[in-house]
Formats: sequence, C-alpha cells, structure tokens
Amino acid sequence: MATVEQPDPLLKEDNAGDGNDGVRRRDFLDIAAVSFGVVGVGAVAFPLVNQMAPPADVMALASIEVDLTNIAEGQAIKASWRKQPVFIRNLTQAEIDEANAVDVSGLRDKESLAERTKEGKANWLVTMGVCTHLGCVPTGVVTGENKGDYNGYFCPCHGSHYDTAGRIRKGPAPTNLVVPEFEFLDDSTIRIG
Ligand code: FES
Repeated sequence: MATVEQPDPLLKEDNAGDGNDGVRRRDFLDIAAVSFGVVGVGAVAFPLVNQMAPPADVMALASIEVDLTNIAEGQAIKASWRKQPVFIRNLTQAEIDEANAVDVSGLRDKESLAERTKEGKANWLVTMGVCTHLGCVPTGVVTGENKGDYNGYFCPCHGSHYDTAGRIRKGPAPTNLVVPEFEFLDDSTIRIG
C-alpha cells in the first residue's frame, strides 16, 4: 500500500516559496547563531585580557631600589621584594676571605663568592631570604641572631647552615640561597628585579 509523505511542519513556511527558502532560512539562523557567539566571545575576552594585565601596584613591586649607605660593614638588612624577604649583607674582609678559602668543588652547590656577587663589589651579598629546603626564613640578619656553623645564615626549621656567601654547607637544603637579579645603579644604590 502506497504511503503519502507528510510535509515537515517546521519547513512548512520555508517550502511555500520557490523551494530554496528553507535552506536560506536555516543558513540565516546558523549565521546569526555564529555571529552571536563571536560577539559573545569578544565581549567576554576583553575583561579576561584586562584582568590578566598586572595591576599597577604589582608592577611597582616588580623591582625595588635599595640604599646601601646605612648598612655598615658586617651588618645586613632584610628588604621585601615581590612579597618575599631579601637579605642584603655588607661582608667584612674576614667574611670575604672565609668564603674565598672554601674549595668550591667540595660544595653541594658549587658557586664561588665571585659568581654570587658583582665584580669589584664582593662585599655586597644579595640573596633571597628564603631557605631552599622548604621556604622558611633563615636567621642571621639581625645582630645576635644565630648565623649557623658557617657564620652566614641558619634555617631553624630543619637545620640548614649557609656560609658567608649564602651557600648551603650543612642540613637538608639542596641549593644555595638564591641570588636575585640585581644591579648597581651607583656605588650605594642597587635595583633588585
Ligand atoms: S626549610 Fe630550611 S631547613 Fe627546611
């Protein structure tokens, strides 16, 4: 028995014209949907990109300048850079000699004092004040604090000892205290970062 194909009610109007209206209408709907999507993505993308740009206060902290004039020989200060402590130490000649007397090949993290300081300014030791074991802040900056067995810094969390060049000498820390990127702007000013 022959069956009669029923017209699709959804295409009723589309088929009422020259037969191509259905295709055109669907194309229009698809294009409209895609266009809306693109506009939507554009509208969402702008604030996202805007949010990804660092705010002005973060940019300001990207680098800091430190005046060294008040750090006497043998003293150190703790600065803050990118929300982390930085130790700036004015080494005595005896501390420089102590660091240079060490056989670098026998160190866990083999660096000389010269490699960790700027040329002609070996007395200025600038390191992050963050233990390379699990991130505690070592002691030894303030006069009278424990400087550890090697006269540098001591991390009380698990007993890491750093020497006068900030190099790991004893304890669980795997590497030397990190020397951040810094430069001398003049004889008594450094910029960190
Ligand atoms: S965090 Fe410094 S020794 Fe563990």
